[in-house]
Amino acid sequence: MIEERRLGPVVGLGTYGTFDGDVRAATAVVGAALDTGATLVDSSPMYGGAERSLGAALAGRRESAVVATKIWTPDPVAARAQYQRQREWFGRVEIEQVHNLVAWREHLPWLEEERDAGRIDRLGVTHYEPQAFDELEAALRTGRFTVVQVPLNPLERECERRILPLAEELGVAVIVMRPLGGKVRRVSLRGSLLRRDPGPRALEPLRPFGIETWAQALLAWALSDPRVDVVIPATRHAERARENVAAGSPPWLEQDERELVSRLAGAA
Ligand SMILES: NC(=O)c1ccc[n+]([C@@H]2O[C@H](COP(=O)([O-])OP(=O)(O)OC[C@H]3O[C@@H](n4cnc5c(N)ncnc54)[C@H](OP(=O)(O)O)[C@@H]3O)[C@@H](O)[C@H]2O)c1
Repeated sequence: MIEERRLGPVVGLGTYGTFDGDVRAATAVVGAALDTGATLVDSSPMYGGAERSLGAALAGRRESAVVATKIWTPDPVAARAQYQRQREWFGRVEIEQVHNLVAWREHLPWLEEERDAGRIDRLGVTHYEPQAFDELEAALRTGRFTVVQVPLNPLERECERRILPLAEELGVAVIVMRPLGGKVRRVSLRGSLLRRDPGPRALEPLRPFGIETWAQALLAWALSDPRVDVVIPATRHAERARENVAAGSPPWLEQDERELVSRLAGAA
């Protein structure tokens, strides 16, 4: 791993389906996350009004945040318009990702121009489905992306086989989406692993690692893989943002504790 390419290990904040266009809610949640040590906030034009309200929530504290957002359209004109709006809301974009690989070959040249002009720090690519990992791998192998975003939780571990090793080989930083998610009868449901909360007694072996809650156990599980840089749980509650960010400091879980979390999550 090329150390300067690392972004973490740290807990960040996702913005899908939480505060949307509600600036007050965004200010409370983003403020709580940044106050407790988060830096990276992930968004996308796909998330309704989330980018706009994130921009408002960052007023006066923009320099303390790493904005990771996305381009999500096959249309080159619409893509530029998405980017222009992001520049209005955020000034610059630290991590610009191609959402779900949509037209990534077409977008790369102009995104590289923007990066080379200093208006973007790093380019990334995301996908949520293992069926897309062949193409994700091809995108990474171009050597033109330095960030990748994939799902990882005890019930969705497909990225461990190919994407995480490749990211490590190429020095690509890894952002984990859906760290509290999982699949129920092959359907992905946000935060679905939280329904399996085993209660405080079962979590006792994790206390020496600073883990108090089931959400923290799941976040620490993902972050304890040394190939993972940032996990980005989304929440509409400021106190949960604080709880989540608190899971992002060492000591990291060892193999035994990671296996315990997997078992508690119901993984085979
Ligand atoms: N293709 C892509 O690029 C892609 C796809 C999916 C996701 N993402 C990114 O990844 C982020 C995370 O994924 P996600 O939002 O789908 O799922 P997630 O973060 O794994 O789960 C979110 C759910 O967990 C709940 N939650 C969060 N913290 C909690 C806590 N401490 N205690 C109890 N409940 C808690 C939230 O409910 P409350 O709001 O009620 O707390 C929400 O329903 C997204 O927001 C987005 O930024 C990217």
